[in-house]
Amino acid sequence: MVTDNLRRVRALANHVDPARGVPAHHRPGFTVAVLGAAGGIGQPLSLLLKRTALVEHLHLYDIANVAGVAADVSHVNSDATVRGFTGPAQLGAALAGAHLVVIPAGIPRKPGMSRDDLFNVNAGIVRDLVSACAKHCPKAVLNIISNPVNSTVPIAAEVLKKQGVYDPKRLLGVTHLDVMRARVFASEALGADPNDIDVPVVGGHAGVTILPLLSQVTPAPPSGAPLTETQIEHLTERVRNGGTEVVNAKAGAGSATLSMAAAAAEFAAACLRALAGHRNVTVCAYVASDAVKSLPFFATKVRLGRSGVEHNYGLPTRGLSPFEKSELEKLVPELRASIDKGVAFAGGDEAHRRRAAQQRRAAAGTAGNSDVRASGVSQIPA
Ligand SMILES: NC(=O)c1ccc[n+]([C@@H]2O[C@H](COP(=O)([O-])OP(=O)(O)OC[C@H]3O[C@@H](n4cnc5c(N)ncnc54)[C@H](O)[C@@H]3O)[C@@H](O)[C@H]2O)c1
Repeated sequence: MVTDNLRRVRALANHVDPARGVPAHHRPGFTVAVLGAAGGIGQPLSLLLKRTALVEHLHLYDIANVAGVAADVSHVNSDATVRGFTGPAQLGAALAGAHLVVIPAGIPRKPGMSRDDLFNVNAGIVRDLVSACAKHCPKAVLNIISNPVNSTVPIAAEVLKKQGVYDPKRLLGVTHLDVMRARVFASEALGADPNDIDVPVVGGHAGVTILPLLSQVTPAPPSGAPLTETQIEHLTERVRNGGTEVVNAKAGAGSATLSMAAAAAEFAAACLRALAGHRNVTVCAYVASDAVKSLPFFATKVRLGRSGVEHNYGLPTRGLSPFEKSELEKLVPELRASIDKGVAFAGGDEAHRRRAAQQRRAAAGTAGNSDVRASGVSQIPA
């Protein structure tokens, strides 16, 4: 009897996935690592990824408290295996074999803090985590959530360059929460379903650098009447202040975590569909770009493919509202300063620093919006 039981246990063990204790049948899909998985965003994001199609193995990494999150999430019924990894000694194992790495590690905003206040803490966290990605999963697509995204993405690029594995197609700053907010707020004004409309959001991911192009809502509003200029101005402000709206409402108890987790999961799912070969997967993302000539990174609509960003749609060439055009010009200096700050932090190349200094001098020496003229943005027809 005992021998029979032992034989049964051994037979079962041979077909069991030690990570989770379920039959290790073939589950076609990808390995996804979440870095910062025990945090306010990391936890609901991990839960949503457990239920995301194409996720085969989910690796949850944090510097603390991740074992419980992994155990909890592992009980959610889906085929994905879940493993927890704690602390730098296990970071390499967390990243090994990852096709997609999602990074929400770092401190969030508290009331009164700007995204730039986060820079000193989060810049170092992102630098170290991306450095580990360069070493352990150099071909992975990276989704950077940690703020300030305007600077953390350039930091990540410099780190990857230094380690000789930079592929701009695979490095994406996640601005999808801005897109979600723009869809929701615009749909309320238009009386539409937020899932039926799309609003491109361009620029960056902080304050005035966030520019929802509400003149470009697709499909055209059911009423046939586009948003008025006043509505566009009001909704743009609301999208820009979406994070603050949540920080203030939570009154010291946190920032946007649930909506961010939903946005990050939707964005990650889009990356995975594209990696799997699905066609016409488009998102807005903050990526290496020449959409605005003087800015090496800029958020626009991009099409994703098997190796990351495969096409950048750039800025719309027609139909922007006067407000949008003027905001587009205004955001350039602020976004450039954030990019320069990130590059300088990561010890970026001298050529970039010289170019940045030259552009600043040129801007100072020419009246008005010289940056934008140089970038070609002001050539957008009415
Ligand atoms: N891109 C966006 O749209 C967006 C939106 C909201 C928040 N954020 C940013 O996301 C980040 C996380 O926010 P949160 O609310 O989840 O914060 P949180 O403090 O709740 O969680 C952060 C987690 O990161 C972990 N962590 C810290 N250092 C780490 C390291 N070196 N390696 C791995 N994990 C580490 C912490 O232990 C914690 O579990 C913040 O920077 C926040 O500003 C971005």
